[in-house]
Amino acid sequence: MKSYKAKMVEPIELPSREEREAALERAGYNAFNLDARDVYIDLLTDSGTGTMSAEQWAAMIRGDEAYAGSESFARLAESVRDVMGFEHVVPTHQGRGAENVLYGVLLEDGDVVPNNSHFDTTRAHVVNQGAEPVDCPSPAARDPNSTETFKGNFDIDAGYALVEEVGADAIPVVVLTITNNSVAGQPVSMANIRATAEFARDIDAMFVIDACRFAENAHFIKTNEAGYENRSVAEIARAQFEHADAITMSGKKDALVNIGGFAAMRDETVFEHAKQRAILYEGFPTYGGLSGRDIEAMAVGLREAVTPPYVTDRVEQVAELGDLLVEAGVPVYQPTGGHAVYLDAGEVFPHVPKDEYPGQQLVCALYLEGGVRGVELGGFAFPGTDRPDLVRLALPRRTYSREHLEHVAETAAKVMDSAGEYGGLEIVEEPPMKELRHFSARLEPVSN
Ligand code: F0G
Repeated sequence: MKSYKAKMVEPIELPSREEREAALERAGYNAFNLDARDVYIDLLTDSGTGTMSAEQWAAMIRGDEAYAGSESFARLAESVRDVMGFEHVVPTHQGRGAENVLYGVLLEDGDVVPNNSHFDTTRAHVVNQGAEPVDCPSPAARDPNSTETFKGNFDIDAGYALVEEVGADAIPVVVLTITNNSVAGQPVSMANIRATAEFARDIDAMFVIDACRFAENAHFIKTNEAGYENRSVAEIARAQFEHADAITMSGKKDALVNIGGFAAMRDETVFEHAKQRAILYEGFPTYGGLSGRDIEAMAVGLREAVTPPYVTDRVEQVAELGDLLVEAGVPVYQPTGGHAVYLDAGEVFPHVPKDEYPGQQLVCALYLEGGVRGVELGGFAFPGTDRPDLVRLALPRRTYSREHLEHVAETAAKVMDSAGEYGGLEIVEEPPMKELRHFSARLEPVSN
């Protein structure tokens, strides 16, 4: 049952089939190049695209825009202490700002960083410090049909194998991403959070949590992990961080805002160094590249994220989209994650070879058939890897209704019906940095 109603609306329109064809061609068959007004249901990301509450908007009026010592910052610090249990907070303009600040303090040339799976900006910031990111996903993550409940877990054995290979001295930091965005938004169990913390202690490394979707992760622990059914989401959310030394956070996810982020930590020296780095890259450490208004909205959003029934509604809506798609006969990664449903494009277009980007073609087909925008997270976005060709449909928080989800499922069903008519794509223009090509490359249908 929905626990909110709309207070403000934004018109959306489904362009005609001819208009969608023309828009896709103009965009070079890359959904990042589409104008948002040409999109009907925008599932490109859940990041910064959600709907804020009346309380968040009200708090914005209170924003203290002082350059130094802003009261809004004090309120954010209090929220972070209450909700996440960290004493020290450095606000940043968004999650990647927090990554830049924290990893600039913790890493140096030649270091190695294991993570259950790095998100692309996290990977890039680790590399930017001269360190090597290594993914240690749970083996269960590889099977899109296994319905195991915590497929986002860190593979501790893979962690120790890495220590064996590079030596514990090369690993100053162990990272855990909750939920695991690069592995279909799958959650991490409390047992695995504890085991990863122990692994980090054992090799004398700092334990950092990428906390972007911490409330969604807490919901999964409450619903699926024995012993937590009677604990509140707020209690579980906080318990997740008990063993962590520091976190990076994108407020654009589970702090329910359009912009903002922060790093938080326990160690005084790390805090002092992080503040110095924040001054260089983000702004004075009581505003961090944000207005006081943005900080107020984030202080309120963090608390809302763990207040019932927000997160239950949220995760159930994502599951609802997953169920509608399964009913429509669309191959869906199981189980559905916390923020998105992932489709297996390899199964939708088995006749399209991997080097002709079946995932990117599925993104184009969903737009063409129904004005739905998703994002490819397979061979096009991650060149040179053997990742499955998944397409992510990420739901903005508190934004779309059941009718919108039904439209998405109907659109995907139309794609399934006409799958044979879709061929492959080839890249005709790409930027110099291959890792970032999916944001701007242009493609064309392969002519056979
Ligand atoms: N970590 C994770 C797990 C993320 O999913 C993201 C962003 C970031 C860090 C960086 O945060 O965008 O505020 O700088 N993910 C978005 C997405 C962009 O679409 O999944 P940011």
